Amino acid sequence: MAKVKTVWYCTSCGNEYPKWMGQCPACGEWNTMVEEPKAAPTAKAAAPSRSRAFVPAGKDSVPQPLSQISMTGESRFSIGIEEVDRLLGGGIVKGAMILVGGEPGIGKSTLALQIPMGCPDIKTLYVSGEESLRQLKLRAERLGSDGSDCLALSETLLENILERAQEVKPDLLIIDSIQTIYSDTIDSSAGSVSQVRECAAALLRYAKESNTSVILIGHITKDGAIAGPKILEHIVDVVLQFEGDTRGSYRILRSIKNRFGSTAELAVFEMTGKGLREVSNPSEMLIPMHQENLSGIAVAAMMDGTRPLLIEIQSLVSTAAYGVPQRNATGFDVRKMNMLLAVLEKRAGFRLSAKDVFLNVAGGMRISDPACDLAVIAAVLSSNFDISVSADSCFCAEVGLSGEVRPVSQVERRIAEAAKLGFKKIYVSAFNKKDSFAARDDIEVVAVSDVAQLTRLLFK
Ligand code: TYD
Ligand code: MG
Repeated sequence: MAKVKTVWYCTSCGNEYPKWMGQCPACGEWNTMVEEPKAAPTAKAAAPSRSRAFVPAGKDSVPQPLSQISMTGESRFSIGIEEVDRLLGGGIVKGAMILVGGEPGIGKSTLALQIPMGCPDIKTLYVSGEESLRQLKLRAERLGSDGSDCLALSETLLENILERAQEVKPDLLIIDSIQTIYSDTIDSSAGSVSQVRECAAALLRYAKESNTSVILIGHITKDGAIAGPKILEHIVDVVLQFEGDTRGSYRILRSIKNRFGSTAELAVFEMTGKGLREVSNPSEMLIPMHQENLSGIAVAAMMDGTRPLLIEIQSLVSTAAYGVPQRNATGFDVRKMNMLLAVLEKRAGFRLSAKDVFLNVAGGMRISDPACDLAVIAAVLSSNFDISVSADSCFCAEVGLSGEVRPVSQVERRIAEAAKLGFKKIYVSAFNKKDSFAARDDIEVVAVSDVAQLTRLLFK
C-alpha cells in the first residue's frame, strides 16, 4: 500500500511545512505544528481558484473607479436582533462571512437559531453538523418558535452543503460548526487544520460568488484562540467572540474584527430559559443597587466603543498574611493596577506595599478604558479606609504617574449617561477643557486635579 504523505501545519497561521519545527518561521509561534495527511491533488487543483475568491469572473474583473460601481438594492440587511445588528455596524452585509467564536455551552447555537426567528422575511438555511434535526426542533420549541421560518439541514459533508445551498439559494447560510464540516477531497479528519482551511475557503468562495451572507460558528480552545488555524480570522470579514461565564447568565458578544464597522463595540445578552435576551442598557446590570453603602466599591463611567457604560469596580485591601503581598485583578490589567498602587504609595503616601489588594470588575467584563483609573483608585482607598464611597457618585478620569488626574475623551456623553442612571455626582479631571461639557443641574460635576485632592474630598 502506498504510504500516505503527511505534512506539518502550523495551527496558528495555517502554513504548511515538510517537517516538524519547534517554531513556525511564518508567524513565530512555538509548539504549534501538527502532522496531517497532505491534501489530495483534487483539492490542490482547486487551490488556484482560491485566489480568485474575491474577484468574481466577468466584467467586474476589469479595473474601474469605485464611483462607478453600481449599488443596486440594499447591500445590508437586518437580522432582527438589534444588538447584533448594531455590533455588525447596521446589519449583515450581503456576501459577507462572519465567524462567531466561543467556548462550548456559551450560546452560539442558540444565537444562531434565534437569527432566523428574528427575521422571517430573510431566507435562512441553518446547517448543523452537531445536532440532529429533531434536536434542532426541540431547541426551536424551547426558544418559542414552531421553526416554520428556518430551513434546517443536518449535514457535515461540505460538497453536499454547497449543493443544497445552490438549490435553496438562501440569503443567509449558517454553519454550526466549521470544525464538524469536512470535504471529501481531503484525507484528514474533520476539525483538522487542512479541513477547516479548505472548507472555510470553499464557503468564502460560495459567499462571494452567490452574494450570500455566511455565518460560521467556531469553537474556541482554552487559551482563547479559535480552534484550528487562526487563518480563519484572516479570511472572514467579521469575527465576533462570545465571552462570559457559562455558569452565570450574562454573555458578552464582542467584535474583534469588522471590515464593515467598528471593533470597539460589544453587545450584552442574558441567557434565559427561552434563549438569549438582549440587554439594551447594560449599565443597569453592571451597577447593582445596594441597600447599604459598602466600602471598596466605586463606579466608573467608561466608553464601550461609541456607547457610554457605567460599571462597578470592587476592591478588597487587607493586611498581607504572608511575606509577599498578593495582587490580583479580574477584568483589569494587573500591571496597570500595580502602577496605580505605586502612584498611591509614592504620590499620596499610602502604605499599601504590605497589603493584599484584590480588584474585580462586575459582570465578568474586561475593561481597558483609562477613564476607569480614578474609580479603581477610589475603590482601593475606600476599602483601605473601610469608608464607603457614596452610592450616587461615579468617576471618569485617567490617573498619571505623578498622581495627576488627567482628562479623557467624550466627557460630556459619560456625564449624560451617569445623570440618566440617577447618579448625583461625577468626579472628572480639572484639566478638561472648560467648554468640553455644559453645566447641568441634574448632576454635580466635581473637578479634581490630583489623587491627594480626591482623597480629601472622599474620605476626610
Ligand atoms: P448552546 O447554544 O448549545 O451553546 P454552544 O452552541 O455555544 O455550545 O447553549 C447551551 C447552553 O445554553 C446550555 O448550557 C443551555 C443554555 N440554554 C438556556 O439556558 N436557555 C435556552 O433557551 C437554551 C436554548 C439554552
Ligand atoms: Mg453548539
